[in-house]
Amino acid sequence: MELEDQPMTATPAIARTTHPLRTGIPDFVAGLRELERDLITKDRIAEYMSATTLRPEALHDYVWWRDSFYTRNLIYRDELFEVMTICWSPGQKTAIHTHNGQLGWMTVSQGEVSTHEYHHTSCNAPENQNVVNIDCLGGATELQIDKVRTVVCAEGTGMVTVDKLQTIHQIENAGTTGCISLHVYSKPFDSCIAFDLEKQRCYRRQLSYFSKDGHQLEK
Ligand SMILES: [Fe+2]
Repeated sequence: MELEDQPMTATPAIARTTHPLRTGIPDFVAGLRELERDLITKDRIAEYMSATTLRPEALHDYVWWRDSFYTRNLIYRDELFEVMTICWSPGQKTAIHTHNGQLGWMTVSQGEVSTHEYHHTSCNAPENQNVVNIDCLGGATELQIDKVRTVVCAEGTGMVTVDKLQTIHQIENAGTTGCISLHVYSKPFDSCIAFDLEKQRCYRRQLSYFSKDGHQLEK
């Protein structure tokens, strides 16, 4: 089954409310906060991120590496937006996971990241999706999750999104050098469903930050 991304087209209304030449984190965040005045849609934020190029040094305080696992580094969070870098050493990858029903946008500022997109075909606990405020309770013990495609995103090229139609993916640094990606989520979320296809189970997984506001958190 092929799921197509929607085209991202510019509209004059959005162009008037964003600042395409801003390149620092404070201005990037200020632009996002302006976008909170209207409905947050996939296309509005995608257009803003496409039009806003951050200088590499803008992310300097939010770049942390760890041998054992990729790092999630919080830059900004409010009721509607969560902004972070993720730093991927060679070979590091996520589990196949959902986004708790929220939208997300990713660009790459260093290196190249592969995103494997999946489609939930069936499971033996579909009723567990009937829950308020989160996407699913998890708990299936039989799963049919099929790979749709792989999207490669590199420095300055393209954007990967998650939305309500394409919500399951796995991100991987399949290369030999470190990668830095920039993520915006709306709304923020602190847990998601992860899928273990080998063991045929899905489960809710808590998410954490390695650093916040440029400071490593206590272990
Ligand atoms: Fe993700």
